[in-house]
Amino acid sequence: MSKPRGVLVAGNWKMNHGPAATRGFLETLGKLEFPSAIVQRASRGRALQGAILVPAVSLEAARSVIDAQGWSDVLQVGAQNAHFEASGAFTGELSGPLLKEIGVNLALVGHSERRQYFGETDESAGKRTASLLSQGFEVILCVGENRSERKTGRTKAVLSKQLTEAFQAAQSWMTSRGLELTPTHWARLAIAYEPVWAIGTGLTASPEQAQDAHLFIRTWLEKSAKTAGFPLPPAQTTAILYGGSVTPDNFSGLLACPDVDGGLVGGASLKPESFLKLIEAAAQVI
Ligand code: 13P
Repeated sequence: MSKPRGVLVAGNWKMNHGPAATRGFLETLGKLEFPSAIVQRASRGRALQGAILVPAVSLEAARSVIDAQGWSDVLQVGAQNAHFEASGAFTGELSGPLLKEIGVNLALVGHSERRQYFGETDESAGKRTASLLSQGFEVILCVGENRSERKTGRTKAVLSKQLTEAFQAAQSWMTSRGLELTPTHWARLAIAYEPVWAIGTGLTASPEQAQDAHLFIRTWLEKSAKTAGFPLPPAQTTAILYGGSVTPDNFSGLLACPDVDGGLVGGASLKPESFLKLIEAAAQVI
């Protein structure tokens, strides 16, 4: 099997692992002989990419160990969120320039926990996406329906609304600053489909459910490109990751779906042994 868009395996550590635990995780990964020959081969030309999205206090520790080990071609460090403004009175936030100063160029945006507990919206996710892409960041934008939306058959309507509002906000943000998102910027965007009912619940979307939602997102990008009146991420080359109770046991089945281009993994990314299994599973399909 081959994956035309490569495979990205991103571990979202959420509010876990301070700097000491982060160093310990990476040290164990090294002892487990990461990256194996097959992972190194798969990561050529960035076909396979690993990433860990760590708490803000652990970013620098993670980045410096990864650099020292010479793993930066295989394993990136990213933030779990970043604000759209470069600086200012935004207590508790991090910005693109602050992250760049410590060598971090990847950020997650619009995670459902940010939406559920911290009032973030499609609009703020869109502005963050545009701002970070325009600063040269790689961005993972999260979307996904909740349990009652799935039960009442509204999954596709919800995805369509989330994408429409996020990309409209992205466009408005760019226009207000006289900027434009180019294909080079879009090439750094991945969309993560994370059904909220599958996050941390042990209930994974079946490969059929994941494929159906991913294909819907890709088709939405294709169709909307003709009608939106402003540029959108290219449908055929934008990576779409699946997130929600991914484990080493179910990952290969999900990766077998043609429109699943990787995983955004919470719980199963916290232990080096299981994170490594996820990376190895991804290397098998490159
Ligand atoms: P779990 O893998 O723990 O379900 O978390 C998924 C997630 O929210 C990743 O961003």
